[in-house]
Amino acid sequence: MDRSGKSIVLIGMMGAGKSSVGRRLQGRTGLARFDTDEMVSTKFGLAIPEIFARHGEEVFRDAETEAIGELPWTQSAVVVTGGGIVLRDANVDLLKRLGAVVWLEADADTLFERASRRGNRPLLKTENPRDTIATLLQERAPLYAKAADFRVDTSKRTHDEVADVILEAIESRSVI
Ligand code: S3P
Repeated sequence: MDRSGKSIVLIGMMGAGKSSVGRRLQGRTGLARFDTDEMVSTKFGLAIPEIFARHGEEVFRDAETEAIGELPWTQSAVVVTGGGIVLRDANVDLLKRLGAVVWLEADADTLFERASRRGNRPLLKTENPRDTIATLLQERAPLYAKAADFRVDTSKRTHDEVADVILEAIESRSVI
């Protein structure tokens, strides 16, 4: 089966705006939207922090990989991923076959301000979540860079502006 897709796949740190931009892209393109966090949450019938608390991160990561495997290959879609999706090479291989992989970037302070608003990120339940974000960003930036077809700086852009940039890039560069 030819698995080369025409989907738009959003990757990046928590707080990068993947979920909101994904919804904007869904509205603008009319494509279906799949969100791996939502898929995992539905599977367990639990919110993400509860999955981490009851089952641990490894079980969450396995479910995340399973969710990617369940994404439709023949249908173009907007795919929103959790921030840690790039931690497994196998996940990235699968995502790249779906279509254009877009890294939503922001500096550590912006990510922290946005990600700490809802208090629903289990990985930020640390003594110093600002440092944790900075460390995670440092560790993961090379992985996002390697996985992405292109990146968009979201720090000073609204969600709609980020969606504009993505759609323009896809059209002008024929990325998908
Ligand atoms: C995680 C990010 C979260 C969620 C989980 C782990 C991470 O998704 O998948 O809490 O490892 O960065 P968001 O990026 O949507 O916050």
